[in-house]
Amino acid sequence: MGIEKVGILGCGLMGAGIAQVCALSGVETVVREIDQKFIDKGFGTIEKNVKRAVEKGKISAQDKEAMWNRLQGTLELGDLKECDLIIEAVIENLELKNGMFSTLDKICSEKAILASNTSSLTIMAMAASTNRPDRFCGLHFFNPVPVMQLVEVVKTIATSQETTDICFEFCKQLGKSPILAKDNSGFIVNRLLIPYLLDAIKVFEEGHASTEDIDIGMKLGLNHPMGPLTLLDFVGLDTVYSIANIMFEEFREQRFAPPPLLKKMVLAGYYGRKSGKGFYDYSVDKPVPSILGI
Ligand code: CAA
Repeated sequence: MGIEKVGILGCGLMGAGIAQVCALSGVETVVREIDQKFIDKGFGTIEKNVKRAVEKGKISAQDKEAMWNRLQGTLELGDLKECDLIIEAVIENLELKNGMFSTLDKICSEKAILASNTSSLTIMAMAASTNRPDRFCGLHFFNPVPVMQLVEVVKTIATSQETTDICFEFCKQLGKSPILAKDNSGFIVNRLLIPYLLDAIKVFEEGHASTEDIDIGMKLGLNHPMGPLTLLDFVGLDTVYSIANIMFEEFREQRFAPPPLLKKMVLAGYYGRKSGKGFYDYSVDKPVPSILGI
């Protein structure tokens, strides 16, 4: 079974990015949001990305037009009923996700595959709200979706091999590189990344080094594109706090416990780039550290 029509739940950062790569790769794509303003915002980001891609000669103006002809926004879950694959990319609220999955399970074809882009919840906790756990898996994309190559395809104990194979093929069709992960909170990448990011906060919190030196150290010392504190601001401190809490709840291991400074920064509204301030202050041209000492 090939994937000809995809439904995306959520048109935020991840949902819009996933919608862009799906529609550009030739797949009919329907994105569902709860308010038109979120669709407008997400589609605005897509337009900016593809306009730049045309200007740089990466895609043609015709490719861009064809992408928009394949991309549709909707406020109705019912408009996703003919999709072969539905990828959920809404906030990390299990009840909210399961409400949508349970409705889609009833209205979609019995062959349709349901998938979640969750970064920390277990897939089985969502598959259990449907009558198709064999056609349910995780498809974890990375931010920024149009740029990042990786997709973690997450197989639960109930996901069928056919579902996994179809999803692998689909990721390749999108030009991505899929890897197989078991259904453990954080899968492969976040299981390694989250303790690393939390440790970087502790190194700063304990006064071992400055914001900039921690970032320069990991950037130049390991050839990472971003240092860990810049990456925290990029991903969102609120997002990392939520992921860490979910992983700590799941494993009860100290390495997933959010350090006190992360909690304080989230309480203060220091979410990172999206709020204008995190480990760096983005209100100036060249971001400067926002917390100078503890
Ligand atoms: N959306 C679309 N395209 C983007 C983009 C965005 N948000 N940000 C950058 N790009 C594109 C640029 O347009 C540019 O494309 P061209 O080469 O065609 O010009 C290219 O990416 C490089 O961008 P820049 O030159 O502006 O900047 P850069 O070289 O510093 O790269 C970066 C930016 C790609 C974000 C790079 O810094 C990077 O890879 N950072 C690490 C990102 C990362 O680790 N992501 C994973 C986060 S964890 C996660 O997502 C999982 C989770 O569950 C938390």
